[in-house]
This record gives sequence, structure tokens and C-alpha cells, in this order.
Amino acid sequence: MQQGACEVFSLKGKVALITGASSGIGAGTAVLFAKLGAKLSLNGRDVEKLNDTARLCQEASHEKPLLVPGELTDEGVPEKIIQDTVAHYGQLDVLVNSAGILSMGTIETTSLQDFDRVMNINVRSAFYLTHLAVPHIIETKGNIVNVSSVNGQRSFPGVLAYCMSKSAVDQLTRCTALELASKQVRVNAVCPGVIVTNVHRRAGLTEEQYTKFLEKTKETHALGRPGTAEEVAQTIAFLASDAASNITGVTLPVDGGRHAMCPR
Ligand SMILES: NC(=O)c1ccc[n+]([C@@H]2O[C@H](COP(=O)([O-])OP(=O)(O)OC[C@H]3O[C@@H](n4cnc5c(N)ncnc54)[C@H](OP(=O)(O)O)[C@@H]3O)[C@@H](O)[C@H]2O)c1
Repeated sequence: MQQGACEVFSLKGKVALITGASSGIGAGTAVLFAKLGAKLSLNGRDVEKLNDTARLCQEASHEKPLLVPGELTDEGVPEKIIQDTVAHYGQLDVLVNSAGILSMGTIETTSLQDFDRVMNINVRSAFYLTHLAVPHIIETKGNIVNVSSVNGQRSFPGVLAYCMSKSAVDQLTRCTALELASKQVRVNAVCPGVIVTNVHRRAGLTEEQYTKFLEKTKETHALGRPGTAEEVAQTIAFLASDAASNITGVTLPVDGGRHAMCPR
């Protein structure tokens, strides 16, 4: 096998549906998947930013991605995304569930509305889109990669609903992996640590707070830095590719060693 940055594994000819593709990890994954030869169906809400991602994908592969924009928690949207994708490409090989939000709050300060908002997108939508995609992924003996978080494996004060939601994504990953293994469908998750994207600012951090938060990764992450969307995308692409053909049910940290750390 040729050894090169992109030749180590391939997604050539695979049809991949990626949510959260208008920003951060989902956008980085879309561009890398395009470089690796995948045919893409991309979801996000911000159509302008989704078009930016599509342009980068097209520059990388000369293939125009299908855009399936929409609010994933709205009734009928997940159904339309799957229908449009299968109608356009005739098959679905890979689902990447990257759409998600972070919300700050403790057991004392998290309102039921905030809790529902986080659970609805991070858990309910991921479950439902997976449920709808699975019959098609069984046909292609494809696979699913969920974007979880170190917050699902480890506990942090002040982000209660988010931690709970990512633990649920970890269980969605493992249970689904066991349920679909006999059908040769693999299901895995990546569990990033702090990655530089828009997610923290969107959760309410000011620029000053965000700068301090990133500075703190020198101590909170063993490798002493935050990660990049591209680093997470590389791991997602590996798990989605045949290079990971004997891997299912893993929740793989991409977190500079954060999951292994304990205060001393
Ligand atoms: N960045 C980190 O430090 C980090 C660490 C661990 C895990 N993660 C996880 O990584 C995933 C991606 O986050 P990110 O860091 O890339 O954040 P991001 O830059 O804020 O991107 C989030 C993406 O999710 C989409 N999205 C959010 N709510 C949606 C909804 N209701 N319907 C449809 N799309 C929705 C957004 O679409 P629009 O922009 O179009 O609205 C956007 O494309 C999330 O699941 C997050 O929990 C992130």
C-alpha cells in the first residue's frame, strides 16, 4: 500500500451523510471526506455556511455535494434528509452525526427548557436520524460515526445537560453497534476534548473567556493544547473507512489525553 497523507485509507465511491457540516468538526469532516473520494450529502441550518463547505469540498474533489439543509429537531426534516440523499445517490454508506450544541448550567441552574434543547439535538435527533438511516446502511453494509465528547466519559461540573447527552450518545453507539454487528454494519464514536470551533462561543463564552479557556488547555489536556477540527476529521474518516473494518462499538478519545487525566 502506498504511504501518503490521503492514500492510507480511502472513501472512494462511498455515499456519506454528514450533519453539522456548516461549521467546525462537521465541516472539516466534509472536506476531508471529499478529498478521500466520498460522495456527500451535507446538513446544517446556515445555508450560506453550508455552501462555503460545499465549495471547499468541490475544490477538493470536483464533485458537487448534495445540500440537505434544515433544523434537525423539526418534524419531517430527518425524513426528508434521508429521502433526498437516497433519491439522489441511490444508496447510503456512511452517516456522521456531528450536529450538536453545548449549554452551560448546573443541576441548580439548568432549566427544563435548556435540558430539552440540548437533549433534542444531541440525543433525540441523532437517535432518529440513525433510526431512519439504518435500513439503507444495512443494504450497503456501511457504518455510522457519532461525534460524542470526552464529557460523555468523564464528569465536569457546570455542563450537566451536555455531559448527560454525550453519555447517551456513547450508549447509542455501543448498543447500536451490538444490534447491527450481525448485519455487518459498524457503529463507532469519536470523543473529542477541547477543539477550536464555534461551539463554546455559541454556548455563551465571551472572547475573553474563550481565550482563557483555550489557555487552560495547557493544563487540562496532557498534550498541552486544544485540538483542531481536522484532527477529529482524520479519526472520523479512519473509522468510516475499510481501514477500520474490524472496529465497532468504540468511543475513541481524540482529546490530547484528557480522558486519562486525574487531578493530583
Ligand atoms: N468543539 C469542541 O470542543 C467539541 C468537543 C467535543 C465534542 N464536540 C461535538 O462536536 C460536534 C460538532 O460541534 P463543533 O465543535 O463543530 O461546533 P460548531 O462549530 O458549533 O458546529 C455545530 C454544528 O451543528 C449544527 N447544529 C446545531 N444544532 C443544530 C440543529 N438543531 N439542527 C441542525 N444542525 C444543528 C450547526 O449548524 P448551523 O451552524 O448551520 O446552525 C453546526 O453545523 C457536536 O456534537 C459537539 O458536541 C465538540
